[in-house]
Amino acid sequence: MKKRVLGTLLGAAMAATVLVGCGSDNASKDSSSKTATSGSEKKGNSSDGSGKIGISMPTQSLERWNRDGAYLDDQFKKAGYETVLTFSDNDSGKQVNDIQNMLADGVDLLIVAAIDGEALNTAMNEAADAKVPVISYDRLIKNDAVSYYVSFDNYTVGKLQGEFIVDKLDLKNAGDKKYNMEITAGDPADNNAPYFYQGAIDVLQEYIDAGTLKIVSGQKDFDAVATDQWNTDTALERAQNVLSSYYADGTQLDVWLCSNDSTALGVAQAITSDYAGSNSVLITGQDGDEANLKNIVDGIQTMTVYKNVSNEAVVTLALAQDIIAGKTVDASFVDSVDIECAYDTESYETSDGNKCPSFLLVPNVITKDNLQDLVDTGLYKMGDDGYLSANN
Ligand code: GAL
Repeated sequence: MKKRVLGTLLGAAMAATVLVGCGSDNASKDSSSKTATSGSEKKGNSSDGSGKIGISMPTQSLERWNRDGAYLDDQFKKAGYETVLTFSDNDSGKQVNDIQNMLADGVDLLIVAAIDGEALNTAMNEAADAKVPVISYDRLIKNDAVSYYVSFDNYTVGKLQGEFIVDKLDLKNAGDKKYNMEITAGDPADNNAPYFYQGAIDVLQEYIDAGTLKIVSGQKDFDAVATDQWNTDTALERAQNVLSSYYADGTQLDVWLCSNDSTALGVAQAITSDYAGSNSVLITGQDGDEANLKNIVDGIQTMTVYKNVSNEAVVTLALAQDIIAGKTVDASFVDSVDIECAYDTESYETSDGNKCPSFLLVPNVITKDNLQDLVDTGLYKMGDDGYLSANN
């Protein structure tokens, strides 16, 4: 499998500061050598695969988390670790219990993709007390108990969506042309959601200000367009309301900026059933879920920002191995994995204001024209009908 597929060149590398975890900001000012654990005596004791790893995923109701869970579980097992994998049905109380059970079970390291980062503070403090390092996976938990954050560059995901809209509608040369747009953002409990939203808005704002892009419903603020739990039906219902309230008179809708694929699915359904116009509406997404890839082939969705979560799992495994081995983890880590990612010690911080050392992978735009890139990852196959399905 090609590991560096879908990569683009990264910008300047982040400063090579040695940190010991999100709650150890002062360590960056200390020149003495540090190890990679959040506690002073880490629990795990080798990188040879002797240890138990707790993998806490948010839900199975969204396709990507099934993939993340499977890839993580598989890769850690292949590396010789014992694993405990849970999905918490988008119920943050259940996720707290799941993590507490893992701690009681004696896990050596936790990998957590939070449903609601705030709701995990107690469980995170318990992990810190037990000296169990935590990798905050994909979504940041803003707690000092977190050792490292592994994700994609979330702001760039939104930026790519915004730039796609600018290019596709040729907004730079729009002249007097005007386009109507609506927005659907993600779950307010998910730390990523405002990053996606802001990345896109920062690109589109000048066109909104110039009147080239008009949000007909007037619903623009993150809170007005957010979607609890990234739920498809919730996105569908709001889209139906917007269409019946603002577009039933024949007003043309040109773009619907959707932060991810599960919301794009709901919006696409609403447009198919409730939109009076006959033009095709540009719809953005994120993740590369199978149903959305099908919609892209069928011209119902225009693009998705693809995140190779198999690579995210590979980076997480390598990081966990270093943490467990007590190795220093710093900027040099990115050279030890054959996957393009940036070491970022500036962008993310905990609620206490401590910077959280992060490893951020690179997202890529997928359209009808480059679906083959997904096949080339080895993770998807294309059927005779032209639709993609995951290889698992
Ligand atoms: C985000 C994640 C996205 C998307 C969304 C819904 O946190 O980064 O890739 O899957 O959650 O689960």
